[in-house]
Amino acid sequence: MKITVVGTGYVGLVTGTCFAETGNNVTCVDIDANKVKKLSSGQVTIYEPGLEKLFERNLKEGRLHFTTDLAAGIKDARIIFLALPTPPGEDGSADLSYILNVSDHLGKLLTDYKVIVDKSTVPVGTAEKVYAAIAKHGVTEFDVVSNPEFLREGVAVEDFMKPDRVVIGTSSERAQKIMAELYAPFVRQGNPILFMDEKSAELTKYAANSFLATKITFMNEIAILCEKLGADVDMVRRGIGSDDRIGKRFLFPGIGYGGSCFPKDVQALVKSSEEVDYEFKILNAVTDVNEKQKLFLVPKIQAYFGGNLKGKHFALWGLAFKPNTDDIREAPALYIIDALVAAGATITVFDPEAMENVKRVIGDKVEYAEHQYECLQHADALIIATEWSVFRTPDFDAIINTLQNKVIFDGRNLFDVKRMQEQGFHYESVGRQA
Ligand code: UGA
Repeated sequence: MKITVVGTGYVGLVTGTCFAETGNNVTCVDIDANKVKKLSSGQVTIYEPGLEKLFERNLKEGRLHFTTDLAAGIKDARIIFLALPTPPGEDGSADLSYILNVSDHLGKLLTDYKVIVDKSTVPVGTAEKVYAAIAKHGVTEFDVVSNPEFLREGVAVEDFMKPDRVVIGTSSERAQKIMAELYAPFVRQGNPILFMDEKSAELTKYAANSFLATKITFMNEIAILCEKLGADVDMVRRGIGSDDRIGKRFLFPGIGYGGSCFPKDVQALVKSSEEVDYEFKILNAVTDVNEKQKLFLVPKIQAYFGGNLKGKHFALWGLAFKPNTDDIREAPALYIIDALVAAGATITVFDPEAMENVKRVIGDKVEYAEHQYECLQHADALIIATEWSVFRTPDFDAIINTLQNKVIFDGRNLFDVKRMQEQGFHYESVGRQA
């Protein structure tokens, strides 16, 4: 099948590459000429494990193309995916201008039947708006489908190739048939393609992300209670997670969720609710609790150093909002850095992938170490903000020999508390007894 993907960001590039991988002929369109040039010459513009290999193969075998020309890009395409940004506006609602501009443009270009697919996370009612933006040009031979993505950064290729489910929102039988054919190779193991109306598909995406954000936030509050009551959140997590109705996944407490999706989507759903005169109370609380949770370690650090951080120097491991990505949007590490620097401390940071992005955003507010152990030099304590695998079994002797004090504040519960105590560390984590 011939497919066009408009927008070569994270979602667009993964979508385009994975569809090419199942034999489709994919053209990706982007207004950024520089990006198109890089992609055409074989340079992958995002860090996503496993993507490069598929990208190179499909580019080489001629199933993947890039262009800035929308008209040429959609020629002969049966399906056009819109994978465009929907950044939050000032009031938290999703900004649809990119999607609606492209839809308007498409309205002027369509000459034969095409399926237009919203892949971006968009508020309920967007499919109708896209339809109207195209139809106002007098075109009738098209359908609009809502097909939200559920890709996790870091495992996006795997999630795309073997999805738990595919959600297709459309009221058109013709579009349903085409989408079913396109996704058939991805659900061979028997996972469902769920057909529904456009609005339900749109809401499914927000409901999924908001539910997961709520699940994490609930555990973060249980962790606070564990510390206060003398319980251990690891035990409680296992105790509740083995109940199938609750499930083991997404129960890990930490220093809050970040990234480009959860914070934005929770806020957008709150906003959508307000627009229909409903106050989504749980989600307001989730946002509040999560904002505080990002700074969870700061009072602990302050208390340990007698309330005065002036002149203290810290090593910080982990800047990305989660492992296996260089994405630092809404990353708790950045909030911790702000708070500690404001309190008069200095910081040296290390992250396996996200250092360049951090440099671009905060420049010389911190120092950057080439290596995770070099980062520890002259530091009064180590702070861990992201659970990269390389931090999980570190060389504790190197840590002991390099750090000034044997003190670790761990926002991701990487180490066994008893073991750390046996090694003589002052070790504080989340929801466990120090
Ligand atoms: C999330 C969803 O998981 C995807 O299904 C969705 O497609 C995507 O948003 C999106 O809307 O595009 P992602 O933002 O890549 O994916 O990250 P997650 O792996 O879901 O993690 C989100 C945050 O929750 C991270 O900050 C992570 O550290 C935190 N988290 C996760 C916890 O604190 N505890 C957990 O147990 C799990």
